[in-house]
Amino acid sequence: MNKTHIISSFILITIILFTSCNQKKSDSFDRKVDAILSKMTLEEKVGQMAQITLDVIGNGINRHASNEPFAIDTLRIRKAIVDYHVGSILNTTNNYALPPTQWNEIISFIQKVATKETRIKIPVIYGIDAIHGTTYTDGAIMFPQQITVAASFNPTNAYNMARVTAYETRASGIPWNFSPVLDLGADPRFSRQFEGFGEDPYLIVKMGEQMIKGYEGNSDSLQSPYKVASCLKHFLGYSVPISGKDRTPALIPQNNLIEYHLASFKAAIEAGAESVMINSGIINGASVHASYEIITKLLKQDLKFEGVVVTDWMDIINLHTRDKIAENNIEAIKLSINAGIDMSMIPYEYESFCDNLVTLVKKGEVKESRIDDAVRRILKMKMKLGLWERPVTNIKDYPDFGSEKFAHMAYESAADGITLLKNNNNILPLSKKIKVLVSGPNANSMRAMNGGWTYSWQGEKTDRFAGKYNTMLEAIQNEIGTSNVKYVPGVSYIEAGKYFEDEENKFNEAIAAAKTVDVVILCLGENTYTEKPGDLNDLTMSTNQLRLAREISKAGKPVVLVLTEGRPRCISSIEPLMSAVVQTYLPGNYGGDALSDILFGDVNPSGKLPYTYPSYPNSLVTYYHKPSEEQKRAEGAYVYESDYNPQYEFGFGLSYTTFEYSNLKISNKEFSKSDIIKIDVDVKNSGERLGKEAILLYTSDLYATITPDVKRLRRFNKISLAPGQIKTVSFEITDKDLAFVNTNNQWVTEPGEFEISVGGLKTKINYK
Ligand code: BGC
Repeated sequence: MNKTHIISSFILITIILFTSCNQKKSDSFDRKVDAILSKMTLEEKVGQMAQITLDVIGNGINRHASNEPFAIDTLRIRKAIVDYHVGSILNTTNNYALPPTQWNEIISFIQKVATKETRIKIPVIYGIDAIHGTTYTDGAIMFPQQITVAASFNPTNAYNMARVTAYETRASGIPWNFSPVLDLGADPRFSRQFEGFGEDPYLIVKMGEQMIKGYEGNSDSLQSPYKVASCLKHFLGYSVPISGKDRTPALIPQNNLIEYHLASFKAAIEAGAESVMINSGIINGASVHASYEIITKLLKQDLKFEGVVVTDWMDIINLHTRDKIAENNIEAIKLSINAGIDMSMIPYEYESFCDNLVTLVKKGEVKESRIDDAVRRILKMKMKLGLWERPVTNIKDYPDFGSEKFAHMAYESAADGITLLKNNNNILPLSKKIKVLVSGPNANSMRAMNGGWTYSWQGEKTDRFAGKYNTMLEAIQNEIGTSNVKYVPGVSYIEAGKYFEDEENKFNEAIAAAKTVDVVILCLGENTYTEKPGDLNDLTMSTNQLRLAREISKAGKPVVLVLTEGRPRCISSIEPLMSAVVQTYLPGNYGGDALSDILFGDVNPSGKLPYTYPSYPNSLVTYYHKPSEEQKRAEGAYVYESDYNPQYEFGFGLSYTTFEYSNLKISNKEFSKSDIIKIDVDVKNSGERLGKEAILLYTSDLYATITPDVKRLRRFNKISLAPGQIKTVSFEITDKDLAFVNTNNQWVTEPGEFEISVGGLKTKINYK
């Protein structure tokens, strides 16, 4: 045996041992779960399937109006956990972040009741939405939202965000996180665009896989007190309703659903994700919470998902009250449990859910085997998390909570994602010796930089919690000195109003001040929102903000437009007036620092757009559109051309240096099934600054039996290059990467020519 053989045999044996060890562990979980299940009454089993919101066991809602602090009501908690055997609790109290010590107290109390006062002593599983950091814990590190992380094209940022969030969520005593969002961000109107990784299916897969690793670790590390169970959401096809408005019907052809929406969930399930949340909406006429096809057939059978399927907020009741497909709540429960739901996020009236489900089983309308399947999944997740051994954690064991080390990772993610979209005459980076006017409603707002799901659901309480971090204005003042910075908002949000309401605030003063400085830094975009409250009637940027941009530009000073927004608001009417445009998306608590480091050249921007930035609200097309959506000039009487007119294309982003691509080489022009095609390209930093470049590899199927996408992202890699440095970047693809889903809903790679393009270089390959 030579050395290579010895090494590969060693690796093989290790893999076999690891796999068989994990198998044994899983078998032992199954045996323990079965032993518990066999002792449970029907009522106890049904209780495990119930999830309630924290306020149900507290001293009433809207306490903050009266300043009464949250306390658990002992009668209410005992009714829920002892009498009704409720197995899960979610959310914060009264939509408000709590300190970690208070979280520990709350969860300790809940677990004491569950593990000491109930007959069967099963710990409760607590769940939360910690979607860009531990949302509802005061002092936790807030990363940028997923959309900024996507723009970094660096999956390490996704991993770091999830790892830190897992640690800090667990430090709060909470072991289950309703994250990541793996929905396809194909519609810029949707109010939750920022919660996802943008419009490209492959980018979402790569980012999503790292989130699962960050949350859950390897397959056996869920028992670690630093990991949480993840929850993939929202399965499936949530983000593209026809109207663009949350929880309204979507029409998605089955082949499209499989090709564009499913891949991210499939990859995350293969990466070991423990739970999945169901799409609250309606696709192709079917309320997803009642869809046996989607929940049982597709998710549990085809994808072999063995974890817990949880509803979204109130979505069983919604089958009756909203969607009108069930005449009453009992019918709604029957439909959804039979469709394959394991746990109901009820979240208030748990008594009727539990009583009705017990009745349905007794009447034979829901099989007890279905209940057993659900409870088995729930108990196994609790067991994997080690909740019997450690029902609650202690903040003292988490010295890194809120640490500098974690803060740095959040800063890095923001700095790596912020995207330079325009830079006329290299106006950026700015000299530190100039005088600037900072203006716009987002300039001095921690709220605007964080987006929804920050300290509260809609993010409206952020400024109260995030005082110690720098707004964009404060960071710019730190960078060049307060005396060199004038601040006049010009326009401000109406904080007590709807998220989209803004008003003039020293409008004329702002315009006057523009004349007295060297450069204007104009911070526009959106205030915070999510879900239904974030629905939108017009994708164009607000009238007041556009007017401010127009008027301020008349001063004749260069204007640097800084965008901070959860979705790309159309700016085509003012964009030509701007000297530079910087997209920060929602960069989180360290976004101000990252932005100012970029504006003044301490950091070279390297983000690229993870979506197509539209010019007009009626021209919303993803980059992977069909050739007919981008028609070239036609001959003859009917002369027409290009409907495809984005403001900025997917994958676009500038740097303070330049990169040159050359020597695109492929290992073989002809290939057949399973052949690996190796693609090499040289990338040179041809400018004078150190810079990072995300190299994006696209393929185009030139002809196919259904009209092909103009191109699709297949690989990417972000590298750092010193001035003058050249690196050869290599990628590998196979026929599988070139497949699409045909009208029979099958993945196929059809013979014929494909084009490969990287950094503007192109070559063709032929599949036989
Ligand atoms: C959202 C989910 C979230 C859940 C629990 C719902 O309204 O759609 O994404 O996980 O609430 O807070």
